[in-house]
Amino acid sequence: MIRLEGVEVAFGLGTQDERRVLRGVELEVPKGQRVSVIGSNGAGKTTLLNAVAGSVRLAAGRVLIDGSDRSGEPEWMRSRCVGRVRQDPLAGTAGEMSVLDNLAMASRKGRRRLLPAVTPRLRRELAERVAELGMGLEERLRENVNRLSGGQRQALTLLMAALARPAVLLLDEHTAALDPRNARIVTELTRRLVAEHGLTSIAVTHDMGRALEEADRLLMMHEGRIVADLQGAAKEGMDVEGLVALFGEARGGRLEEDGALLR
Ligand SMILES: Nc1ncnc2c1ncn2[C@@H]1O[C@H](COP(=O)(O)OP(=O)(O)OP(=O)(O)O)[C@@H](O)[C@H]1O
Ligand SMILES: [Mg+2]
Repeated sequence: MIRLEGVEVAFGLGTQDERRVLRGVELEVPKGQRVSVIGSNGAGKTTLLNAVAGSVRLAAGRVLIDGSDRSGEPEWMRSRCVGRVRQDPLAGTAGEMSVLDNLAMASRKGRRRLLPAVTPRLRRELAERVAELGMGLEERLRENVNRLSGGQRQALTLLMAALARPAVLLLDEHTAALDPRNARIVTELTRRLVAEHGLTSIAVTHDMGRALEEADRLLMMHEGRIVADLQGAAKEGMDVEGLVALFGEARGGRLEEDGALLR
């Protein structure tokens, strides 16, 4: 379970350019829930993921993962239980290392020896997993990752994140840099891995249709706040047109006034 309590993030504190980017965010995501986050550019979506991952310092509030307060823990330490796939296909893998070594490292994340000896058994296991991607990468285990395409790299990053069994998987528009075909493949793969491992996920997307379709719960952010939180019947009854109308209301400040969509 992921819990954010009164989370505030600000840049340029005490200067004229002081900008409060997250404003008192309260959020509880139960284990196994798939959450989508939508909102206009600059709403604070990436910063929300940064707060969970520990890549940004909190001005106030706490982040709890499975009940323990991780607010003071640096990003590298938190990466043991937080998986992340970014928009940039180059960000998630080590380009100068082989497909096999990247996978082996992911399967050992958080242990003492980062790069384990790849025993024949581990190699067989990883080859099986990578074959399931359906991209022929099992034939290219010894090749360096920087020879793969963006879509292949993103699929590999996703598989690596899932292999590490994170308490939460953070996805930040992770198909946005891919062509439509690869975007579809990676979307399908995401769905499969999340289901197979029962992963808790928080996915930022600009695709409202997909957000409605794939998530159990949909959050809308505006100016550093969660202004709508839809799940169950409220989400089922929502469509893209309805979301666009909600955006309009958020911009007009009306969601904050009545708080109707926040439980
Ligand atoms: N390191 C930083 N220093 C100063 N301002 C920052 C920093 N990181 C983010 N911001 C600001 O915080 C605000 C929220 O940024 P964030 O990246 O979270 O938005 P977003 O919702 O992910 O937008 P997008 O849809 O464009 O990715 C923006 O105004 C941004 O300029
Ligand atoms: Mg962003």
